[in-house]
Amino acid sequence: MLVHAISTNAVYEFAEDVRVGLTHPGQKELPSKYFYDDVGSALFEVISRLPEYGLTRADERLLRRHSDEIVDRLAGPVAVAELGSGSGKKTRWLLQALAQRQRTFYYPVEISRSALAMCERELSDIDSISILGFEREYLDGLLEVAAYRKRGQRLFVLFLGSTIGNFDRAAAVGFLAQVRRILEPGDSLLLGTDLEKPSAQLLRAYDDELGVTAAFNLNLLARINRELGANFDLGQFVDVPKINHEARRVEMHLQSRRRQTVTIPAAEVDVEIVEEETIWTESSHKYLPEEIFRTALDAGFRCEAQWIDQQWPFAENLLIAE
Ligand SMILES: C[S@@+](CC[C@H](N)C(=O)[O-])C[C@H]1O[C@@H](n2cnc3c(N)ncnc32)[C@H](O)[C@@H]1O
Repeated sequence: MLVHAISTNAVYEFAEDVRVGLTHPGQKELPSKYFYDDVGSALFEVISRLPEYGLTRADERLLRRHSDEIVDRLAGPVAVAELGSGSGKKTRWLLQALAQRQRTFYYPVEISRSALAMCERELSDIDSISILGFEREYLDGLLEVAAYRKRGQRLFVLFLGSTIGNFDRAAAVGFLAQVRRILEPGDSLLLGTDLEKPSAQLLRAYDDELGVTAAFNLNLLARINRELGANFDLGQFVDVPKINHEARRVEMHLQSRRRQTVTIPAAEVDVEIVEEETIWTESSHKYLPEEIFRTALDAGFRCEAQWIDQQWPFAENLLIAE
């Protein structure tokens, strides 16, 4: 697979985002996109196989069952762009269905180079599919993909696995609207959304018995140590998932066991953390099926079809750009 690589400003931006997130008043935060270095991407693959984390399996069941129907609903020859493809494992079903009717270009857009490499290993055996990966942020990558569009070709964008849940609800609409602006009327977006479910089931999914999710969360501090020269003592932090009922989301936090000062040389900052204070690292918003129709409309799409997994409430939504 050819890969267009990311800019050299990445370390500077990482340091700046860390400095801003850990020094602004009130709740300390780190952007979840930094989970995904080589270690983080590998840990995410393990999480997706854990018995407690039914989300990926629900997404895959829906794609396995409905890919033919999804593809039948797409007009014209399409090129496929996937935002945050990860290993691309579930995408196989859609690409195989498309391969029945056309030769297809598949463009995974990823900030993680190792995820792009996994994606190529996973999907390159499918006949009639050419893969060109973009090591880019979602919208930068999609803009480049759109520039490859051939006359008469439609774009079919995939945003699977409920990664949309990492955005606050208003920001999710804003992000989808930005995606819409890059697309043309009649292009489509397949959006995965995790649905509301009982608190106990949700907490188990984000607090697995083996501690893989905790390791995934702590790896963010380990990455700051590795890449920014910081001195986080990982043993002094505990992974604490929380349910925020009002915002209808699961939040991942890292809680400090004691008062401590962490030095982050590349970000030119010393961070004071008090006992039991938390660093908020990720949100996973949960949706109601009917809410997705409104979200789609607000972003300039029409929700053409929705498929729901009953075993692990999860929805696959086919949105058409208006
Ligand atoms: C939660 S994982 C989901 C992976 C896959 N779509 C799935 O459903 O299993 C999110 C993926 O998006 C990528 N990612 C996160 N933030 C990104 C960004 N701003 N731009 C591009 N890729 C991003 C990560 O590297 C990761 O592989």
